[in-house]
Amino acid sequence: MADKGGRARGRLLFFPLPLQGHITPMLQLADIFQSKGFSITIIHTKYNSPNPSNYPNFTFIPISDGLSEKETSELSVFALASILNVNCLVPFKDCLSGLLSAESEVHITCLISDTVLHFTREVADSFKLPRFVLRTSCIGVFRAFAAIPLLREKGYLPIQASRLEEPVPELSPLRVKDLPVINVPNEEMFYQLIAGLVEEARTSSGVIFNSFEELEQSAIAAVRQEFPAPIFPVGPFHQYSPAASSILVKPDESSISWLDKQAPKSVIYVSFGSIAAVKENEFLEIAWGLANCKHTFLWVIRPGSVHGSKWLESLPSGFLDLLGVRGHIVKWAPQLEVLAHPAVGAFWTHNGWNSTLESICAGVPMICMPCFTDQFVNARYVTHVWKVGVQLENGLERKTIEEVIRRLMEGEEGEEIRNRVEDFKEKAKFSLGGGSSYESLESLISCISSS
Ligand code: UDX
Repeated sequence: MADKGGRARGRLLFFPLPLQGHITPMLQLADIFQSKGFSITIIHTKYNSPNPSNYPNFTFIPISDGLSEKETSELSVFALASILNVNCLVPFKDCLSGLLSAESEVHITCLISDTVLHFTREVADSFKLPRFVLRTSCIGVFRAFAAIPLLREKGYLPIQASRLEEPVPELSPLRVKDLPVINVPNEEMFYQLIAGLVEEARTSSGVIFNSFEELEQSAIAAVRQEFPAPIFPVGPFHQYSPAASSILVKPDESSISWLDKQAPKSVIYVSFGSIAAVKENEFLEIAWGLANCKHTFLWVIRPGSVHGSKWLESLPSGFLDLLGVRGHIVKWAPQLEVLAHPAVGAFWTHNGWNSTLESICAGVPMICMPCFTDQFVNARYVTHVWKVGVQLENGLERKTIEEVIRRLMEGEEGEEIRNRVEDFKEKAKFSLGGGSSYESLESLISCISSS
């Protein structure tokens, strides 16, 4: 393994969770540190391994994850994460042992791992290697995760259907139905994974967030008060520089040529990230809601994102002809470019944190359709704290979809929302250019350098 470009500030090891929504911010963060003079090594699983040719100055070290093809194609992301925490422990220990051995000429400053990868703590501690963590959600979600034992004690969890609309004053403005949980067969396994994530952060030398003070001031203040480890909100990561692509799927560039032909702010961009999937009946409601609203739309339909379908088979025959040029469907879009395109007027999103932050930074208002865990919290913050979007609630129904789209694209309310999101877009820029994230990054660097 060659040490590419040994730099004055030392070498940082990064270990991302192998899911798109986690790989993206981790590699963006690595890029930021490289621009500050550090050398970068990415330790990664074979499953969903990033493409080294996009990062010629990084060193990539694959380790065994022991996952079978059946497991990667059939298991939920939570089950996969739990298995990785067991399977990767020994390979990661062997990897670190080699890197830190007396013969190694490389000086390793610290490890930055994803909070979901709990096993990295035990291994890093055994080598006395300082460990920082990246939490890829927003800070409000992290706070809610840390409160899960309390929420269970107070009876909010497990969620009861009769209490969905009840407010949770401990985590205002969340309601019971906004709590970051998921409907999985093994609920205890989920709680254990989250408890491990919080502990991984609590015992670290510092927790890095892809967020910024101007957006999450009160959540940051609360976490700083409640939590022993230092907190470093240094986002939005993707705005530091045009980072190399860590996207695992090739984007369809026709998205941009199609947008080029549309009027300013006329298009609804629809995408539900890399994991969320909908039932066939919901898919049909989405399709008819989009068709009936009479606005133009760019719709990402990921193969496999409709239960029981490979791709578009569930669409009624003749549906695409009926739309004509009013809709464009792709399997994967270059999302950052799409959101920055002047033709895009709204983003119908599942509110994964990356998508939410990317939308805010592009000044694009959102239609929120959270699907699981942190997405519920993000959607509530979008609609009730930052007020930069509207939420589709209580099931997907074509008439409601049409109404919500019109509220955002046509009404006065939409205009107000648009102004607010533009304001946050400016705040995000300010935060990096000498504001809070700039300062937080400087203090993170000095903390890492003295660790
Ligand atoms: C997951 C979780 O679902 C999310 O809740 C958590 O916050 C992070 O991990 P994912 O569902 O993929 O992520 O959503 P998101 O966080 O929005 O990340 C998706 C990424 O893929 C974004 O950076 C987005 O720009 C990119 N993307 C998505 C594309 O580049 N093209 C697409 O067509 C769709």
